[in-house]
Amino acid sequence: MRIYLDNAATTPLDPDVFEAMKPFMLEDFGNPSSTHAHGRKVRAAIESARKKIAELLNCTPGEIIFTSGGTEADNAIINSSISTYGIRHVISSPIEHHAVESTLHNLQKQGVIQLHHVSLDNKGHVDMSHLEELLKANPHALVSLMHANNEIGNVLDIEQVASLCEKYTAYFHSDTVQTIGHYRHDLQKIKIHGLTAAAHKFHGPKGVGFMFIRKDKKIQPFVHGGAQERNMRGGTENVYGIVGLAKALEIAYREMDEHERYIKSLKARMIEKLRTTIPGVEFHGDSENLDRSLYTVLNVSLPESDENEMLLFNLDLQGISASGGSACSSGAAQGSHVLAALYPQSKRGAIRFSFSKYNKPEDIDVAVKVLSELCKIPA
Ligand SMILES: Cc1ncc(COP(=O)(O)O)c(C=O)c1O
Repeated sequence: MRIYLDNAATTPLDPDVFEAMKPFMLEDFGNPSSTHAHGRKVRAAIESARKKIAELLNCTPGEIIFTSGGTEADNAIINSSISTYGIRHVISSPIEHHAVESTLHNLQKQGVIQLHHVSLDNKGHVDMSHLEELLKANPHALVSLMHANNEIGNVLDIEQVASLCEKYTAYFHSDTVQTIGHYRHDLQKIKIHGLTAAAHKFHGPKGVGFMFIRKDKKIQPFVHGGAQERNMRGGTENVYGIVGLAKALEIAYREMDEHERYIKSLKARMIEKLRTTIPGVEFHGDSENLDRSLYTVLNVSLPESDENEMLLFNLDLQGISASGGSACSSGAAQGSHVLAALYPQSKRGAIRFSFSKYNKPEDIDVAVKVLSELCKIPA
């Protein structure tokens, strides 16, 4: 039996989500833009999904716009906030997801924006006083800082960033793809302007997500071509995806406290077992800190060794799916830009394990045993 410990990449679909989607794959196939009964039924399902999501996030349905996932939502908010508000300066970090990082580099290359990187501390957390300095020097900027890092798990205090952005009249976008469905977001309380989500990160289907755009900070559409999504995103909606997204979020909210407790215990178990079996083991970023990192992610830093190059491949051969990323810049392997930014000189190995409600404590025990054997340490 294979063990899946790569839930930050994607999560298995919850069977109840699949059941909710099924009718919209078979009998309820109408185009939601059609005004006849087939269309109206499907339109109602989309609007009820939007309402459900808005209730959970404490915002209004009009502030939720469905997209094809996190990447499109990040691209849309960044590009359109810049063009709508004539923004020239963007404050971000070197460890954002490529959906943000590549989008910003592209805009910088075209001369549309000037990009400013905020300093990070030695654990990879944003230096808030430097952020304030940058905001002071560049008022009306776009700030794009992720809520939680998908590789090292560090969690940002978005409430604090939102307050700073309010003070310096900046537009605040946060890539919340790794936190929606895992933490509660009260959008009346957090004065953020745009955030993004992808259903497949919380046991929903792939290829569907949403963006939240605060109603008093509207942006122009990014995908043109149709009046769908209140003129905000052209294209026939992914109806069963949207229905599945809302169902997955509903389940995630209903079971959140229980799952957080359970998954945190898996992560704590792995930290403890790794510490006792692998001498010199460390954890990248702040991922061993259960209070300031995603409870779903643990990024293991392994002592320098010739075995490190092949670790992921060998874990896979032994039936364990995990993910990698190393600061290696030898050119052979495409290293992680996150680890390269934080540990430019490091030759240590990196394995990201990420957990879900479907993992069992035995999965952790087997993974640690296999990893310690691959590191040539008798368990
Ligand atoms: C932090 C973060 N942002 C954006 C994305 C992209 O989301 P999607 O796969 O839905 O395009 C991911 C998924 O890998 C992610 O982890």
